[in-house]
Amino acid sequence: MIPEIVEITSEQTLNIRHKTMWPDKPIDYVRVVNDHEGRHFGLFINDKMISVISLFIINEEAQFRKFATLADYQGKGFGTILLKKIMSIAEDENIHKIWCNARIDKSNYYAKFGMILTDDKFTKDGIEYIIMEKTFANTMYI
Ligand SMILES: CC(C)(COP(=O)(O)OP(=O)(O)OC[C@H]1O[C@@H](n2cnc3c(N)ncnc32)[C@H](O)[C@@H]1OP(=O)(O)O)[C@@H](O)C(=O)NCCC(=O)NCCS
Repeated sequence: MIPEIVEITSEQTLNIRHKTMWPDKPIDYVRVVNDHEGRHFGLFINDKMISVISLFIINEEAQFRKFATLADYQGKGFGTILLKKIMSIAEDENIHKIWCNARIDKSNYYAKFGMILTDDKFTKDGIEYIIMEKTFANTMYI
C-alpha cells in the first residue's frame, strides 16, 4: 500500500471535496472560482484516490485550498504526505510564503508543519477560519 501523488484536474477533486467538506451543499459549492488557475493533486492508495489538495500560486505566494481526506482514511498520515509534497513544490518554485484559510479546529494540525497563526480571522457558513502561513527561509525575501 504505497501512497502515490498524482497531479489531477480540478474536476477530479470535486467528489472528495464535496463528500468531506460540504456534503450538505450542492456540489458546485466546492468549486473555487479560479480553480482553472490552480494545480490540483490527489493521493492514491491502490488506485483509489483518497485525499486531495489544490495549490494556487499568485504573486510569489502559494495558497493551498480544499484539502480533504475521505473520512475512512483520515488520521493515518496520508494528509501529512500530501501537504508535505505541496509545500516542497511551493518551496522549489521560489515561493516566499505558503498560506491557507485554516478551519480553527485544524490550526494545531497545520502548526505541526511550521505554519503560524496570523491575526486574520473570519467566519463563513458557520465555520471559523484563521489565516495561517509559513515563510520559507531560503528566499531573497528574508
Ligand atoms: C485536514 C485533513 C485533510 C487531514 O487529512 P488526514 O489524512 O486525516 O491527515 P493526517 O492523517 O496526516 O493527520 C490527521 C491527524 O492524524 C494524525 N496522524 C498522522 N499520522 C498518523 C498515523 N500514522 N496514525 C495515527 N494518526 C496519525 C496527525 O498527527 C493528525 O493529528 P491532529 O489532527 O491531532 O493534528 C482531514 O482531517 C480532513 O479532510 N478534514 C475534513 C476537511 C477539512 O477540515 N479540511 C481542512 C480545511 S482547513
